[in-house]
Amino acid sequence: MQKVLESLKGKFVEELKNIKDKESLKEFEIVFFGRKAGEFTDLMKKMKDMEPEERKEFGQSANLVKKELLELFAEKEEEIKALQMDKVAEKERIDITQPFLGKKRKGHFHPNTIVQKSLEDLFISMGFVVLDGPEIESEYYNFEGLNIPADHPARDMQDTFYIKDNLNWVMRTHTSPVQVRAMQKYGSPLKMIVPGRCFRNEATDARHEHTFYQLEGMIVDKNINFSHLKGTLEIVARHLYGEETQVRLRPKFYPFVEPGVNGEVSCFLCKGMGCRVCKKTGWLEVFGAGMVHPNVLKAGGIDPNEYQGFAFGFGLYRLVMLKYMIEDVRAFASGDLKFLKQF
Ligand code: FA5
Repeated sequence: MQKVLESLKGKFVEELKNIKDKESLKEFEIVFFGRKAGEFTDLMKKMKDMEPEERKEFGQSANLVKKELLELFAEKEEEIKALQMDKVAEKERIDITQPFLGKKRKGHFHPNTIVQKSLEDLFISMGFVVLDGPEIESEYYNFEGLNIPADHPARDMQDTFYIKDNLNWVMRTHTSPVQVRAMQKYGSPLKMIVPGRCFRNEATDARHEHTFYQLEGMIVDKNINFSHLKGTLEIVARHLYGEETQVRLRPKFYPFVEPGVNGEVSCFLCKGMGCRVCKKTGWLEVFGAGMVHPNVLKAGGIDPNEYQGFAFGFGLYRLVMLKYMIEDVRAFASGDLKFLKQF
């Protein structure tokens, strides 16, 4: 019987070596240790027919062998478990060096930036430089330098946010302060535009924001007259809204220009017939403009007897609203992706 035990052990060890997965190990366990018909179980059952002396001796050896085989079995079980975990890890391994193969979601320009860039390109092609100015501006450049003294009623039209404890600094209400800054820095002749953010202390509605963009423009040179202003504004209107667009200028008071005008373009939607967008008038109001006031030229260090200039200020948000038929100015800074994804 000892020999049978030895040969069973040999068979067990040999077959166990070739097992590589969980399922085969399960079957192997049943073949050797299965309660009803396992090879080892069968051998043990034979003990009951043995003489007591032989049974005792065989029982001891069989127990030792069983213990040894169970240990080998447990080792194999661990080995297979580890193998399986490696396979899972391999399957789930992330190659952080692999380039992204999915659909890329790219950002894009804000509609205001699209129109701003398009106008910058247009003006650069006409020889203008693109300038910048501070958003926190001195009261002087925002008002006094532009011929708006402290007690002038025109200040009420552009109420702003003053910097606490220092009333000489304000959030600029328009891009016009850069007119004086640019003349002081570059002198004349000068051809410049200034796209930028402005701030006003006013209740917001569908057409008014407390923070919005303007695009200022200015030419200072000898023999500049009103027709140069009108021609330039027509080029801008046609660039934005199409070749047939007309420009209409009507007198309006701005302290920093003389004469001053309020500029409208013919409605690109109804071609002047009157519709919802232009409130049945056929015209859309988009800018203020005029010939630079002599006091402003003087503030910029330029002799008004020698040089003239014109200036204009587009409400950039307004231009964008009209181009894309956006009904509420508050959509621009809302951060609403549904709105932004349309451009
Ligand atoms: C000015 O700001 C003048 N600096 C424009 C100017 C420049 C005139 C050079 C003459 C020479 P006004 O306040 O009208 O003007 O504003 C110009 C444009 O900015 C308006 O036509 C409008 O389109 C836009 N705008 C003004 N206030 C707001 C606001 N709260 N929200 C959105 N857009 C505004």
